[in-house]
Formats: sequence, structure tokens, C-alpha cells
Amino acid sequence: MNILLLGSGGRESALAWKMAQSPLLDKLFIAPGNGGTSQYGTNVAMSPLDFEAIDAFVTENGIDMIVAGNEDPLVAGLYDYFEDKPVKVCGPSKAGAALEGSKDFAKRFMQANGIPTARYRSFNASTLAEGKEFLASLNPPYVLKADGLAAGKGVLIIDSLEEAQKALEEMLAGMFGKSSATVVVEEFLSGIECSVFVLTDGEGGYRVLPVAKDYKRIGEGDTGLNTGGMGAVSPVIFADEEFMAKVDARIIKPTIKGLRDAGIVYRGFIFLGLINVGGEPMVIEYNVRMGDPETEAVMLRVDSDLVELLDAAASGALGDLELRHSPDPAVTVMMVSEGYPGSYPKGREITGLESVEESIPFHAGTAVDADGRLVTSGGRVISVSSTGKDIADALAKSYRSIEKIKFDGKYSRRDIGADLMALASKKN
Ligand code: AMP
Ligand code: GLY
Repeated sequence: MNILLLGSGGRESALAWKMAQSPLLDKLFIAPGNGGTSQYGTNVAMSPLDFEAIDAFVTENGIDMIVAGNEDPLVAGLYDYFEDKPVKVCGPSKAGAALEGSKDFAKRFMQANGIPTARYRSFNASTLAEGKEFLASLNPPYVLKADGLAAGKGVLIIDSLEEAQKALEEMLAGMFGKSSATVVVEEFLSGIECSVFVLTDGEGGYRVLPVAKDYKRIGEGDTGLNTGGMGAVSPVIFADEEFMAKVDARIIKPTIKGLRDAGIVYRGFIFLGLINVGGEPMVIEYNVRMGDPETEAVMLRVDSDLVELLDAAASGALGDLELRHSPDPAVTVMMVSEGYPGSYPKGREITGLESVEESIPFHAGTAVDADGRLVTSGGRVISVSSTGKDIADALAKSYRSIEKIKFDGKYSRRDIGADLMALASKKN
């Protein structure tokens, strides 16, 4: 089977790495890919949002399935564009992608289906005054979310009421352009977060992938600015059988049923951003793709054939196909450019990858320059993934590998997984 994978980050590197191991795979193309994805397939200089170009490419290259790594093409209607064409799409329809594309829609969906989530209300420019009143009725800190996609930056968490009210006004006046024309204001939930990934076939069949936790802030101890993700670990100690049974009964099953009841076609990944509030799982957000960098850890634990699973999901036929995974933990630690998540330099040469033996360095923001050198091209540069007998062992491997990979101004957090290891030692 020939597959076209859309995207260019560490997540797509990990998906491509896993797909390339499948005996079912003939040719893999990655559009646009990065400086490392050509190890697993052929990079194609094509935008994931250029559906016409993708259509022509699919026909010319006999592509059997398109897999969307990131949300943008799905929210823009990738599935619907190709629905009547002879190629499968692994990913939700545009209506399903609204679970990520519109926070207001996601909240209404959860409310309609009795899925546990923070209490909320949505406001627009004509209801600003009510929004300010609603904020005053909540306890701090205040959570404000731009309704639409905002490149991961659309959520503000603010301590003072006055500042939150001012931020609501600014968001509605266009702080995030059209994305914040509607703003969700919700109650703050306190707990530890985790990421649960579900692969669904749109016919009621689904499989749950290994659970992971990501580390979003740039600084150690979860301080400083939000990033696309600085590392991830899997499994997550508190996501035990009892917790996951609640997730299944209260969140996954009602989500899948709610989509079907609404007549929404959804064949692909559902990412549940959960928070553990005193042992009770609640949904912080839905995404309609795998997480980045969670994928760079989770793929190391998946033993089943990913191509077979994705093809079955996209065909509406997961049937009794098993999703087997290894009990061994996996971690990933992101190497980023100095300055990230603010402005950062590009074009710095990367060396030492060939001496990495204990880990898999998944390329994210890398490129090959005109002289054939591997250089940095993004804020998140390389996601260094390892497995081990426990999380500490896997982390030690990633940190040793990071020592070997060199580029000017490289930075990584040294405390990935530290919170979960502290929880584990308390339990023992
Ligand atoms: P989101 O873009 O929805 O994932 O939000 C970004 C981050 O904001 C989440 O990963 C949480 O850490 C935090 N967050 C969002 N909503 C809430 C909430 N209701 N209570 C506490 N933290 C939240
Ligand atoms: N790691 C969180 C995300 O992919 O949205």
C-alpha cells in the first residue's frame, strides 16, 4: 500500500518511522517532511493545505491512503474533499475536526453527551458585559480560550479578575484574529494532566493507545512560556486500570456514541487532553490527531502494525484487530533552539547524530541546506526518544544521547518525567 503522510514535525517523523516497519507498506511519501523523514520515505514539497496539489499527487503516485499528522488540513476539510475519490483518509470529517477547530463546539458536544469537563460559557462581542459578569462569578484563576485554532496559543490563564476581564475584551476585539471572535470562559481545574489517544473507525470500533504525559512549559518545574511540548513520558502512573475504566465509560464511549448520534464521520485519532481531578478524569480539550511530542514516545511502545491499524480505521473496519503494546516505558526529550518559544536562530549545523545508539532521534525542525548540511529550521529541533526498564532508565538514555547531538544554542529540559517519578516513589 502507498501512503501519503501530511506534516513536518517530530510527530510525523515518529509515525513515518513506525509505518516504515510495516510489511504492508510499499511507498511512503511525507509532505512536506523535514531533514530526517527521508530516512523513512520520500519527502514531497507540497503544503498539507493544498488539496488540489495533493489530489494530483495521489492520482500520479497511486496513493491508497492519506494520513493527516496535524489538525490544519482536517479542520480545513481534507476528509470531505477526498470523500468521493478513490483514496482513503485516516482522519475525521470537517464536522468531526470541529472538536479541535472550535472549543465552543467541543464544549457543547461534551455538555450534550454528559462528558465531564469544566463548567463554562461562551461569549462574543455582543455579550461582553455578560462575560465580565460570568468571570466575576468564578473563582480565580480564570481560564479564557479562543474558540478557533490559534497555533496552541489561544488559552490564557489569568490570576486577577480585572486582568481577565480586560483580556476577554481584547480577545473579542481580535487578539487572535477571527479565532477569538468567540471566547470560551471556563472554571479552572486543578490536577495532573495526561494525554489519551483513541483510534476509531467511525463504526463504533476503537482502540486505546498507550497513555502519555507531555511537558508544555519551556522552563524546569513547569515554569515560563508555553511551548509546543518539551518532552513526554509513557505510561502515566496514575492512569491505572481504575482510572482508565472511568475514562472509557465516561469519556471515550460517550464521545464515540455522540459523534455517531450526530451523524459525524470520524475515522482516525481522537486525542483526549485529560486532567485527573482527585481521581476523576475530566476533559480539558479534544484534538483530532496524535500529540506532539507524545507520539515520539508512544510509537516506541506500539508493537502492532501501524499501517494495518490506520488502514482498518480509515476503512471503518477495526474489527477484532489487536493493538498490542510493550509494557516498557518510553520517553522523549525535545532539543530546542535557544530563544524558543520566542524568536530563535535557524540554519545552525547539527552534528553527532550518527553516534547516537541508545535512542531514536526524531527530527522535528531540521532541514538539509544547499550545501547538504543538516541544519536547524525550527524551534523544536530533535525529539530524542528512548525505551528503558523504567522511566529513569529511558530518560538516562535520552540525556546521554542529547550530549552527543550538537548544535549551537541547544536547550532541553532536564526534569521531564520528574513529577511522575516522584508520584511513583510516594506510592511505593
Ligand atoms: P488547551 O489549548 O485547551 O490544551 O489548553 C492549554 C493548557 O491550558 C492545557 O493543557 C492546560 O494545562 C491548561 N488548561 C486549559 N483549560 C484548563 C482548565 N479548565 N483548568 C486548568 N487548566 C486548563
Ligand atoms: N502535546 C500536545 C499537543 O500535541 O497538542
